[in-house]
Amino acid sequence: MSKKTHFHADRVEGMGMTIFSEITQLAQEYNAINLGQGFPDFDGPLEIKRIAMESIASGNNQYAPMIGAHTLRRAIARHQSRFYFHEIDPDREITVTTGATEALLSTLLAFINPGDEVIVFEPCYDSYVPVIRMAGGIPVPVTLHEPLFKFNHHELREAFSAKTKAIIINTPHNPTGTMFSQLELGFIADVCQEFDALAIMDEVYEHIGFDPAGHIQMRSLPDMKHRTITISSLGKSFSFTGWKIGWVIAPEELQIPIRNIHQYTVFSTATPFQGAAAAALDLPDSYFQQLVNMYQDKRDFLAHALSSAGLYPIIPQGAYFIMADTSEYPFPNMKSFTNWLIKEIGIACIPSTGFYLRPERAGNYVRFCFCKSNQVLETAAERLHKLQT
Ligand SMILES: Cc1ncc(COP(=O)(O)O)c(C=O)c1O
Repeated sequence: MSKKTHFHADRVEGMGMTIFSEITQLAQEYNAINLGQGFPDFDGPLEIKRIAMESIASGNNQYAPMIGAHTLRRAIARHQSRFYFHEIDPDREITVTTGATEALLSTLLAFINPGDEVIVFEPCYDSYVPVIRMAGGIPVPVTLHEPLFKFNHHELREAFSAKTKAIIINTPHNPTGTMFSQLELGFIADVCQEFDALAIMDEVYEHIGFDPAGHIQMRSLPDMKHRTITISSLGKSFSFTGWKIGWVIAPEELQIPIRNIHQYTVFSTATPFQGAAAAALDLPDSYFQQLVNMYQDKRDFLAHALSSAGLYPIIPQGAYFIMADTSEYPFPNMKSFTNWLIKEIGIACIPSTGFYLRPERAGNYVRFCFCKSNQVLETAAERLHKLQT
């Protein structure tokens, strides 16, 4: 019998340590403020935490229903109706998942056959490309062009072909903060219809939007409901990223294959957090307004500190990241700039190359996150002050 030189499957080839883990390690080593990894350093509302604690204490600790607790699915439907005026059937059109991450995996495994093409905007959230590949699909990148990180209509249309099965759209967008407008989504919707493609919407930052036009949902556009899969989660809107409660909204015929995958991968999502998640989604409008106000203040504070340091920020319309242009700093690449910033200035950020399928398109940008306490942002601003000329 021939000796195996390795045991890992081909699909994990090239999946080494992510740039996020690498930066976090370096940040820890140099005691740098970590504005790289994007999670809040504060918790969501105490009353919601109490519901989760009481849920565990009262014995709510066994498997939840495969498609999610009824109370949570009803709350998701109420939330959609309150914010987007959509009436959704909580039994047939909603599945609760273990975060948006699982929702994306289950969706892609449910619809992508080997060789199918999936369009992604680059830069993009780092799980899209590996998950498309895990499903056997081929990621087809379309660049969001700096400085405003908008797509070119012609380039988008050219990327579609008879092999295109789906497009993934993240709005508000990580890492650029772009919010796709009604017109942009309308253009994408037309192309999806022309090529009979699915629109997979990642809306995890739906409640962190500063653009007065607001968050637009693809499913609300004419003739798009039956080909749109809307994914969101609790983590960003309620500052509970560790609870990993997410959901998929889609018409019943699309929901069935997603549930088939969910059933055999994760089966069900943590029970005690589901009632708390339902209560979070039912919080009054004032909660959501305060969240936006809080993040807008943090965004403006960090943007000012960055621009004073010659790191010119592209002011984001949404999400909690700022892309900053490092052109004034003479480094051969963004990785060396980032390493220098960690070691010499004590601040960690992510080189934008980490978000590109074609890193040569990344330009001179790095991503900072501002989902941190004011005290941490103030210390970061003091450190950035050292860079002022
Ligand atoms: C664009 C985007 N999608 C999905 C996720 C993952 O969400 P969850 O924590 O709910 O799995 C993140 C988390 O950073 C994200 O930025």
